[in-house]
Amino acid sequence: MSEIAEEMRQRPDRGDVATYIPELARADRQAFGIAVIDNAGQIAAAGDCETLFSAQSITKVFTLTLALGMVGDRLWRRVGREPSGNPFNSIVQLELEKGVPRNPFINAGAIAVTDVILSGHQPREALGEILRFMRELAEDPTIAIDEAVAASEKRTGFRNVALANFMKSYGVLDNPVDFTLGVYFHHCAIAMSCRQLAMAGRYLAHEGRNPATGFLVISPERARRINAIMLTCGHYDGSGEFAYRVGLPGKSGVGGGILAIAPGKASIAVWSPGLDAAGNSHLGRIALETLTKRMGWSIF
Ligand code: DON
Repeated sequence: MSEIAEEMRQRPDRGDVATYIPELARADRQAFGIAVIDNAGQIAAAGDCETLFSAQSITKVFTLTLALGMVGDRLWRRVGREPSGNPFNSIVQLELEKGVPRNPFINAGAIAVTDVILSGHQPREALGEILRFMRELAEDPTIAIDEAVAASEKRTGFRNVALANFMKSYGVLDNPVDFTLGVYFHHCAIAMSCRQLAMAGRYLAHEGRNPATGFLVISPERARRINAIMLTCGHYDGSGEFAYRVGLPGKSGVGGGILAIAPGKASIAVWSPGLDAAGNSHLGRIALETLTKRMGWSIF
C-alpha cells in the first residue's frame, strides 16, 4: 500500500478540486490516502488514510442500502437502475422520463432516495438515522457531519434545488423540497477518512454481512445488486471507463474519495481531491487501477 501511496504522491497529474461547492475548493491537491480491509479483517493503509474528507456522493451507497431496507423493491418505482451517460447533476433526462431519475447515484436519484428515508420523519431524525447507520457500519461513533460543507452546498446548490422541484412537480418526492434537500445536503457533507470508509463498505464485500460481527446489514442478493449498480452507475458518465480500467464496483464523490468493492475479497477506500472531467478522483482511479492489477482483483 505504501508503494502505491508513494507512486501517487510523486505524480504531477493531480486533477482539479471541485469548486462549485466553495468549501471543497479548500482541499489539498497533494493529499492521497488509501485503506484496504480484507475478508479476514486485516487492514492495510497508507498515505493520508486517517485524514477526514467530504464523503459526498459516496454516502449515496449507504442511503440506498437504508432505503432498500425500509421499503424494499418498492424503491424502484421512484428511481431506475440504468446508467445515465450524463453528468451527475444533469437535468435533461428528467423531463423526458417524467421526473423519475435514471439511477440512485446521480444527484436526482439520490435526492429521491433521501426523500424515501425522510418519509414520516423530521429531517433531523432522518439525518440521525443515516449517521447512526454509518457509525455502526464503520464501528466508529465519531463520524460526523461537516457543517461548513453542508452550509456551503446549501448556499450554492441551485441545480439540486432545480432537480428536486422538477421531481416534486411530477409527484416523485413526497416531502417538502426544503426538508428533503436539507437531509441530502447534510448527508453528502459527512466527513470520513479512508479507513472509516473502507470499514463502512465491508458488508458489500461480504454478501451483506459485517464480517467482524456476522451482523446481516442487508440480504446477500441486495448486496450483489448494490454492487451491480455501483459498477454500472457509480462514476456517472465515467462509469464505463472505471469498469474498463479498474474492473470493480465503485462509488466516487466530488470530495475526491472512491469506495471500491472486491466482492469476497476486500473493501477499499482511496482519496485524492483532484478530479477528472467527470468529477471523479483522478489519482484515486489510477491508484485503484494499479491495486487491482497487482492483486488480480478485477471481477472480469
Ligand atoms: O449534490 C452534489 O452535487 C454533491 N453533494 C454530491 C455530488 C458528487 O459527489 C458527485 N460525485 N462525483
